[in-house]
Amino acid sequence: MLDRIKEVIDEVTVATVGSKDDLENFRLRYISRKGILNDLFEQFKTVANDQKRAVGQELNKLKTFTEQRFKDFSEELENATDDSAGSKLDLTLPVAPNFAGSVHPLTLTRQRVLEVFARMGFSHEDGPEVETDWYNFTALNFAENHPAREMQDTFFVEKKAAQKDDVLLRTHTSNVQVRLMERKKPPIRSIMIGRVYRNEAISARAHCQFHQIEGLYVDKNVSFKDLKDTLYHFAKEMFGKDTKIRLRPSYFPFTEPSAEIDVSCFICGGKGCNICKHSGWVEIAGSGMVDPNVLQNSGIDPEEYTGFAFGMGVERITMLRYGINDLRLFFENDVRFLRQFEGA
Ligand code: PHE
Repeated sequence: MLDRIKEVIDEVTVATVGSKDDLENFRLRYISRKGILNDLFEQFKTVANDQKRAVGQELNKLKTFTEQRFKDFSEELENATDDSAGSKLDLTLPVAPNFAGSVHPLTLTRQRVLEVFARMGFSHEDGPEVETDWYNFTALNFAENHPAREMQDTFFVEKKAAQKDDVLLRTHTSNVQVRLMERKKPPIRSIMIGRVYRNEAISARAHCQFHQIEGLYVDKNVSFKDLKDTLYHFAKEMFGKDTKIRLRPSYFPFTEPSAEIDVSCFICGGKGCNICKHSGWVEIAGSGMVDPNVLQNSGIDPEEYTGFAFGMGVERITMLRYGINDLRLFFENDVRFLRQFEGA
């Protein structure tokens, strides 16, 4: 009988269970009422008295061992996942982070700019990206064949008999100025933000699509001083209260006089660094007094009204704000880039 017990112990030791059916078979074979264990306990009754002690010990060992195996098998089965590989859940793994999304850096700049100008009483206007030559160039005082047309490498959609009817992708947001002045009587105080297109090779510094912010203020007695004050206030709100501005003479067909606006470098405070190329200043916008011809073309009497306008690149300002050195990052939508603006 001892030999038989040993045999069964060996059997139970090497037994494996891979499914619920296996487990049930294991139970039926060893533990159930008609199983091997019960059988052995029946036979135990017939064992000679002097051997009862030794056999009883072994039999009890077998019983405990078999029941423990059964328990282990049941637990293993319960913990196993349903996938075919039979792998187990690792409950100690850290939870996968839940990424809730982030606002695009260009949108952050756009929101901030709109907020600053809204507090100065500027409304927000929109205009079309597919535009006619008239609104993009001619009405803005770009004479036919004027070299400034060439400077804004234009994507044409359709060439027409008359140049002013050509259809194109707008090269700047200034088209909205004209549309706005056609539609509304002064006072006009508006900000226009949108996408513009130029046929340029894509690099870290240039792209064929980017965004501009345009401002327009037309009323009686609007002066160059108003332009300066407005942009000075904007610069302080946008880049910090110690920011200074500097105006340099420039040229745009639609403004006269025209000026480029520089702000004191807010990275180094004007001492000179990589961002400002050691000049202490960074250029942020073009601006000027709206040319009387543009007012006229848009149906506003230049004898009665004057106005100022300015335009700047959203990408450029965003790159300065966040220290971004490659324009292409804005359009690639690499989540490793975008996630850095979470909570910004
Ligand atoms: N539209 C000009 C550009 O794209 C910027 C500008 C706007 C300059 C308004 C003056 C006034 O370069």
